[in-house]
Amino acid sequence: MHIDIISVVPDLLRSPFDHSIMKRAADKGILTVNVINLRTYGLGPHLQTDDYQYGGGAGMVMMCEPLDTCIAELKAKHNYDQIIYLTPDGKTFNQKRANHLSCMNNLLFICGHYKGIDQRIRDLHVTMEISIGDFVLSGGELAAAVVVDAIGRLLPGVLNDETSALTDSFQDDLLAPPVYTRPATFNGLDVPEILLSGHERKIDEWRYEESLRITKERRPDLLG
Ligand code: ADE
Repeated sequence: MHIDIISVVPDLLRSPFDHSIMKRAADKGILTVNVINLRTYGLGPHLQTDDYQYGGGAGMVMMCEPLDTCIAELKAKHNYDQIIYLTPDGKTFNQKRANHLSCMNNLLFICGHYKGIDQRIRDLHVTMEISIGDFVLSGGELAAAVVVDAIGRLLPGVLNDETSALTDSFQDDLLAPPVYTRPATFNGLDVPEILLSGHERKIDEWRYEESLRITKERRPDLLG
């Protein structure tokens, strides 16, 4: 998969993809992430990328021209499956959307700042709008990092144990069961005996029951 991310603060996106699972995905050639500095498309001597909003009011708006030129250049090189704008008024991101996007080949993310991007860029280019939750970040970069991480770890060959993404929370609308590692007793607390039994079917049943119990307790909305 190839992902391009347009940002006015590309440095914010350097570290998230340079470690752990995202780095492994890059090293294996499974995922390439390219961050484009929108400022290089800025207008005038100050490479301006934002301006006051029509109609008045506080907060700047990201201008059409730099974004349009940048997107057009990228579109000439890549056949994007989706052009995604990160915005608090987008559809809420969840595991289903992560699964769906992980099946794509080319994605372009646009990170907004200030009051957001000019509506005409949304009308002309954007094919999907995603929010990572009902709160407002100071820019789309951290949201893009969250979405790319959630997608990247689902790509075949990225996780060592191919089945481990399938047992994540939300993968079947259930939260994950509790997990334990050594030692078997810690501060007087024992690992549930069933997990030490070696009885695979019973362990699966226990995990399923625990998932159900925890989901009922914490997120009954997931059970519909
Ligand atoms: N940009 C600012 N806030 C955001 C959010 N909650 N989700 C996605 N992008 C954003």
